Amino acid sequence: MGRQLLRIGLGVATLGLGGCAFDLPMSTLRAHTDFARAILSVYALVTWAVIVIAVVVSAVLAWVLVRFRHRQERGLPTQTLGHTLLELSWTIAPALVLLIIAIPTIRVVFATQRPAPRNALQVTVRGWQWWWEFRYPSLDVVTANELRVPAGRPVALRLEGPDVIHSFWVPRLGGKRDVVPGRLNQLVFTADTPGEYWGQCAEFCGASHANMRMRVIVLAPEAFDRWAAEERAPAAEPSGVAAEGKAIFARSACVGCHTIRGVSAGTIAPDLTHFGSRHTLAAGILPNTPEHLVAWLLDPPAVKPGVKMPALGLHAAEAQQLATYLLGLK
Ligand code: CUA
Repeated sequence: MGRQLLRIGLGVATLGLGGCAFDLPMSTLRAHTDFARAILSVYALVTWAVIVIAVVVSAVLAWVLVRFRHRQERGLPTQTLGHTLLELSWTIAPALVLLIIAIPTIRVVFATQRPAPRNALQVTVRGWQWWWEFRYPSLDVVTANELRVPAGRPVALRLEGPDVIHSFWVPRLGGKRDVVPGRLNQLVFTADTPGEYWGQCAEFCGASHANMRMRVIVLAPEAFDRWAAEERAPAAEPSGVAAEGKAIFARSACVGCHTIRGVSAGTIAPDLTHFGSRHTLAAGILPNTPEHLVAWLLDPPAVKPGVKMPALGLHAAEAQQLATYLLGLK
């Protein structure tokens, strides 16, 4: 019986701890912004407090179990009823612990709600079922699912919701913040290291909530400026197979929902003007390769359950041509 329990315990512990890692792409323990570091500092403080309390309580408990265990020759130990010093100490000690946790917590809550500094890059983030729209009003750039920001400069995200409640969460860059229809939330951070950071909608928002992912790509300032200039440029003019793909795009339902500047002006689906420069497809769930794109164009709901984009009824050859056009939009 004891061995059986031990085996089950070890099995459960192995499975549970197998999910733990400091270094996975969605780890909250690797902070890369001021915002994430502030939250991590509170998290570390609480964790250490909990460890100290657990050790002290377990030690006292073990001592009591040994010291007062039942023995034949020993009668009832002394019974205590009402002990002012004991009662004061076990009231004051937890209050002190709470105070030690509360002061930095409140400080971080206020620090992470401060208005953005004047030089912050403003980005409007709109959570849609099930993708992310990023608008840079000062740069005249609109993109989707991949947020590019410069390292070392404050970024102010204005979070808006056109449909249901979502939650913006990129663990290495900081805590979650809800995207609520009819309400404006803000998230301000300064990223310190160029790199690609994974994010995920963190509020259940329907069938493909789990497929509502994103990437935040932090670039060196010069690389960011180059990217913004490329994004502002008009869509690439296709030729050959890609031109046939463009014709398919222009005569299909695509134009009602998507924008490709100079070609269409839909507003309820991702802007595709520079789709070919994105690393991922379908809100960060697939690498942006011809094979994945063709599979997506042939049957979007098979890739992403509940997706608003319908199957367009394309033939395989048409899907190939359309994919060639879209991937050429750099
Ligand atoms: Cu959007 Cu969950």
